[in-house]
Amino acid sequence: MKKPDVELEAINPLSRIFKKAVINPLANYLPARLLKKFLADGKSELALANWQDPGGWRSMVISYNGNPEKTWDKIMVNGGMVPMALRNRRKIGAACIAELLDNAAHRPAHAVCLGAGPGHIITDAMLKAEKDCRATLVDISSDAFEYGRKLAREKGLENRVTFLQGDVREVKDRITERVDLVKMIGICEYLSDSQITSIVETISQIMPEGAALVCNSISDSHGTDRFFRRVFGLHMIHRSPEKLKSFFEPAGFADWRVYPEPLGIYTLMIAKKGGQS
Ligand SMILES: C[S@@+](CC[C@H](N)C(=O)[O-])C[C@H]1O[C@@H](n2cnc3c(N)ncnc32)[C@H](O)[C@@H]1O
Repeated sequence: MKKPDVELEAINPLSRIFKKAVINPLANYLPARLLKKFLADGKSELALANWQDPGGWRSMVISYNGNPEKTWDKIMVNGGMVPMALRNRRKIGAACIAELLDNAAHRPAHAVCLGAGPGHIITDAMLKAEKDCRATLVDISSDAFEYGRKLAREKGLENRVTFLQGDVREVKDRITERVDLVKMIGICEYLSDSQITSIVETISQIMPEGAALVCNSISDSHGTDRFFRRVFGLHMIHRSPEKLKSFFEPAGFADWRVYPEPLGIYTLMIAKKGGQS
């Protein structure tokens, strides 16, 4: 698979130095109480979404949409490294998944998306794909699917998308259709090692040999983990691509390909069940 041909967001070296020397220390070390008050007084929707559900799908959607109303959100969503990297991850993810769906051995190709949220990435990919495909979206949050159904309808995909509410570790018996691809984008960084291990066990049982896995690692090079933990209550677990691979390899996932986005925060990772190690 060649490098996805999509336009991605990057920042120039001077802005990077300014963020590192000025913005990040302020965000990381100003008293959390003060920063939370600024955000609450400014009615930041991004902060509110994280306070209600740290790492939930709503904060992703605010970052994806990129056009918030509130001043603090404009600063964070348009200038923050992580929201930019999230938009990059969405574009790379959709391009890679579209190609994998088109190259799948069966029709319609079937993707199972774990921790899918409302399904922005998979529905982008399905629109990009040229061949027949469908998707099952699994998420623990029921309100993700209210929004997801609306999104699928707007994209004309409502008849090709199935929503399954539940814990990703407990839905395997409800997935009866052959699986060509499992997508785990935006979920591993919120899971402990033992949770990932148990998801790997689950997907190994539903994925036939040759099926594709798409996931992502996250690096702490954004430099604002202390801000996310103290102010948003967001506890992400940063793992290198090598570390993330180590959960999947014992279950026979191989032929890894990795696509870092230009900000160096997320790396999109693709493997094949039963590929060559
Ligand atoms: C950060 S959002 C990512 C959404 C989407 N994958 C994306 O990248 O845009 C993480 C999603 O995983 C879901 N989630 C977290 N743990 C889960 C679990 N054990 N089972 C099912 N869904 C889970 C959350 O409800 C949330 O919608």
